[in-house]
Amino acid sequence: MTSRDLAVVIVAAGKGERLGAAVPKAFFPIAARTLLSYSVERALAADRLAQLIVAAPGDLLDEARLTVENLGADSRIRVNVVGGGDTRQASIARALTVLDPDIDVVLVHDAARAFAPTQVFDRVAEAVREQRRGIIPVELVVDTIKRVAGDVILETVDRTELRAAQTPQGFIAEQLLDAYSQAEADHTDDASLMQARGYEIGSVQGDTRGFKITTPADVDRAYALVAGTIGNESTPSIRIGIGTDTHRFTEDESKPLYLGTVSWAGERGLDGHSDGDAVSHAIVDALLSAAGLGDIGSNFGVDRPEFAGANGEVFLRGALELIGESGWRVANVSVQIIGNRPKVAPHRERVEGVLSDLLRAPVSLSATTTDGLGFLGNSEGVAAVATALLIRAEGRLGS
Ligand code: CTP
Ligand code: MG
Repeated sequence: MTSRDLAVVIVAAGKGERLGAAVPKAFFPIAARTLLSYSVERALAADRLAQLIVAAPGDLLDEARLTVENLGADSRIRVNVVGGGDTRQASIARALTVLDPDIDVVLVHDAARAFAPTQVFDRVAEAVREQRRGIIPVELVVDTIKRVAGDVILETVDRTELRAAQTPQGFIAEQLLDAYSQAEADHTDDASLMQARGYEIGSVQGDTRGFKITTPADVDRAYALVAGTIGNESTPSIRIGIGTDTHRFTEDESKPLYLGTVSWAGERGLDGHSDGDAVSHAIVDALLSAAGLGDIGSNFGVDRPEFAGANGEVFLRGALELIGESGWRVANVSVQIIGNRPKVAPHRERVEGVLSDLLRAPVSLSATTTDGLGFLGNSEGVAAVATALLIRAEGRLGS
């Protein structure tokens, strides 16, 4: 196994004046999580990580520690939280005082670039190891760039030789410590500090998600990223779930059949602590499993007295509420009844309509037999299998 040789420094000690929020920028929440939390999450997943150092505002050190703890870091990763300085560079200098002497490669990353994906961390670190020099992620400049004097345009700058610099920027630890120990001027990134000390710096491809959240307009972009269907590796915006349920036909001729919350006239009913509605119960399990919220038993205790004889609607509404609370809504549900009886075709439209209204999403119902085999083939019972697709409710995060 390759050794853990990497440290990531996350600078989160700035005030965020241009953002103008009530809290320092790294602690600004997007969809109930701070920028620091997003950036630490992506850093912790980096290949060969041995140490994570966070530079935070002096009065938020505990919050910063809690942020890292809540993400459940691998116990082999050493975590340090230090108080930052007056400038970005001063914050990094403080972070480097606790750098483990065994570290070979250091990545320095802005907490404000909260959505830079882990692949960029890995790409930069790998290039540093191979080239034994500083490496920064860069993006092409898309705008036509002008040089000006006041409001007068002097000339157009050839953009083919321009790149926008991002973080994480990676360095050989020894070289970075050397440059920091000799730093004279204040630099806005580590590559320029290294170059001032005479080190050559290379580059790799950056990532559009590595943009820096600086002004309120950038917050909108961050929300779009979190809520959108693309570009968010650790918190996918769609989730799928599965559920099945089986109930036995009752001996009681008078008990009506309930499937999909409605009664099916002329059909024998099903046994069960509740009303035996295998269709609704399978859907509930599919919804809960998609959201990672357990199953019908763990949420509603189907043997609890208040659910005796309960209609499937009770559980469906309950499940809908739970997934809504964790930031999800239903995209669609597909449910299939398995068994010789009852015949589904005459009821399909009605059941689909009722369930679609209830779940506020398309629900489709189909049916199949088992070629006469087993308890479903000889009409001892009915089974249902359901799948549910959930999408993230706008601007919120799922669990
Ligand atoms: N930073 C830091 N210590 C400072 C200043 C900045 O750790 N004294 C960090 C910020 O927390 C941020 C990164 O450096 O993650 C990039 O800086 P910037 O985007 O300028 O953030 P702020 O300085 O917080 O914002 P502003 O300049 O608008 O006040
Ligand atoms: Mg700043």
